[in-house]
Amino acid sequence: MRTYLKCCFMFLSMGWLAVSCQQDTTVTKPVLEKPSLKNSFKKDFLMGAAVNDGHINGTDTSSLKIIEREFNTITPENIMKWMYLHPQPDSFYFDMADKYVALGKKHDMHIVGHTLLWHSQIAPWMDEIKDPVEMAKQIENHINTIAGRYKGKIHTWDVLNEALNEDGSYRTSNFYNVMGESYIELAFRLAAAADPDAKLVYNDYNLWKPEKREGVIRLVKNLQSKGIKIDGIGMQAHYSLVGPEISDIENSIIAYAKLGMEVSMTELDVTALPNPWDLDGAAVKQNYEEYEGDPVMNPYPNGFPDSMQVKMADRYEDLFQLYLKYEKNIDRITFWGVSNGQSWLNGWPIKGRTNYPLFFNRKNKPQVAYERVMQLKEKKSKLEEAGK
Ligand code: XIL
Repeated sequence: MRTYLKCCFMFLSMGWLAVSCQQDTTVTKPVLEKPSLKNSFKKDFLMGAAVNDGHINGTDTSSLKIIEREFNTITPENIMKWMYLHPQPDSFYFDMADKYVALGKKHDMHIVGHTLLWHSQIAPWMDEIKDPVEMAKQIENHINTIAGRYKGKIHTWDVLNEALNEDGSYRTSNFYNVMGESYIELAFRLAAAADPDAKLVYNDYNLWKPEKREGVIRLVKNLQSKGIKIDGIGMQAHYSLVGPEISDIENSIIAYAKLGMEVSMTELDVTALPNPWDLDGAAVKQNYEEYEGDPVMNPYPNGFPDSMQVKMADRYEDLFQLYLKYEKNIDRITFWGVSNGQSWLNGWPIKGRTNYPLFFNRKNKPQVAYERVMQLKEKKSKLEEAGK
């Protein structure tokens, strides 16, 4: 079976397909199927993208075609965050979330829920709660209502987002200040009870950092020691052309896998632009508005030069080399958006820039990085086939 699948995928990735055997024995029609991320990497991991309002509402038909063709998993970029889904204690707005789930179902995709608990993009009323009993009650209502509604429909939940500081200690969010670590246990217990079949993930950025990695290990071990279900670690993977080092990412994948966690790259993008924190210590300003309109920080407003396309492709190739090396431990690779024009990195951390962090350009055509990663996979498949 394995060899048969390998053959199929090689065939697919070479741009051909596949003969569909029809009921009518006299007709065998060849169906030409274009190579795609989801087909080429089918045997390695799920390939996905974060989707926005235009995708969910079906108005952005051009990007939707890419989503349908290339990806087999989706994550909602914003619409399931607390401030949108649960803006008042007694009001839930499920309109967009229902459409999001319907989109995934229509295409038989692995549907991710992002995110049940996060200090950011939370409804302001939640941040005003100072009583631990009241907070636990609200968290319970939030998770039971949402994870309950999508039981069996949302396959993976980012239960908790960004609960750690860079040194691995717990972030002093309002959740933590009011309830201490117990809010983390509560969230995972509730999610597991609301949908026992959903995969439950802890998601955060900079999870390649050794100190933060230790924090994740503590968090996971603490849950495991209490018999609380956690299935995976989501490494957000917001990277740059030069950092982090592949070896740091690798060490984190190894460490998380050792805990029995499935690892996912949940928000992959590679910024093409300089960022304030790349500058020398003293030059780093707290107020990034000061950089708005600064051409040094926005070097490619009219197009991405070929030489930069190559650098971007080199970086993505290195990342995918690593991901393929650990395909047994990696469940899913999700890009944070579909095409460059829609990436949040055009507006963060400095507004009004022109960035090129994804696989598809502003006209939804594949960038050089896409081609390179597809070639990488094709080369690897050929070597495997040849038994090397
Ligand atoms: C970002 C969205 O992409 C933006 O549109 C929004 O304005 C802010 O949030 N980590 C996360 C994501 O977990 O939810 C964030 O998404 C990016 C960083």
